[in-house]
Amino acid sequence: MKSPFSMKSLFTRKPAPSSHAYAVVTGAGSGIGRSFALELAKRHGSVVCSDINLAAAEETVNRIRQAGATGHAVQCDVGDAAQVKALAEKAETFFGQPATLVINNAGVGLGGRFDELTLEDWKWCTDVNLWGVIHGCHYFVPQFKRLGRGAIINVASAASYTAAPEMSAYNVTKAGVLALSETLSAELKKYDIRVNVLCPTLVPTNIIKNGRIPGRYSKLADHALMNYAMTTSDDVARLTLDRLDRGQLYTTPQIDAKLFWMMKRASPALYTRFLGLSYRLFK
Ligand SMILES: NC(=O)c1ccc[n+]([C@@H]2O[C@H](COP(=O)([O-])OP(=O)(O)OC[C@H]3O[C@@H](n4cnc5c(N)ncnc54)[C@H](O)[C@@H]3O)[C@@H](O)[C@H]2O)c1
Repeated sequence: MKSPFSMKSLFTRKPAPSSHAYAVVTGAGSGIGRSFALELAKRHGSVVCSDINLAAAEETVNRIRQAGATGHAVQCDVGDAAQVKALAEKAETFFGQPATLVINNAGVGLGGRFDELTLEDWKWCTDVNLWGVIHGCHYFVPQFKRLGRGAIINVASAASYTAAPEMSAYNVTKAGVLALSETLSAELKKYDIRVNVLCPTLVPTNIIKNGRIPGRYSKLADHALMNYAMTTSDDVARLTLDRLDRGQLYTTPQIDAKLFWMMKRASPALYTRFLGLSYRLFK
């Protein structure tokens, strides 16, 4: 008899689960979240679009319906555990079954020197960017376990490993999302729950306009985002879903995201030295 524990079975990839069928996207009212929701609709998924801004989530749902798919808007502040619990329950009611995919995407931008940031800034950024993802995983993993399969996409950032100056709080939250995703990927494999963590550099969205970025470089940052980004939010969403299907853990969509990833891993000390020197030079 063939043992289920053969080395081959441990390393053979299972066919992609139909994880896109019943999806929940947080921060679906703008940017990358909206692109994920619309791409899922194209792939015949039914999508619960949640956002702290209900009108924006409803606009995404309108576009989903125009594309002939089904969607439902839910207002949810991901920093509030009770609201994310309610989101998971509402999604299960809407789908008539547990969700099969959660995309923990909602996030905010925060910039400024470490000594400029208030503790309230830290709390705001941590609540949305890190606790929001923890809440999403906490309330959706039990649904996936009940179903016997599922998938999670956590939207981190290249900031999770680049450690760029004047972004301390944002970097910390995204490093936490990366660590959580890597841990869950290993821990949930035996339940057939896939994890992908998205780590992009610049993507043209409203993140600067919606964020807390010091006036001295908010215009420049927004200009760079809108004019020099090497990808679009639609391409990022497509690529990430494809990589999830292939059972890949990491999505670093742009060449600079990949380059920083390799440099940081090859020599963290040299990388950090180079970063410090460039910051001193250009500041
Ligand atoms: N745009 C980039 O260059 C970039 C790069 C790397 C990572 N990211 C990450 O991508 C994700 C999406 O950001 P985006 O660039 O599309 O920005 P965006 O500002 O266009 O969209 C973010 C959405 O999240 C929503 N949101 C904010 N706070 C929320 C909360 N507490 N609860 C629920 N929803 C909330 C906003 O209303 C908005 O609709 C974020 O996690 C961000 O950190 C963006």
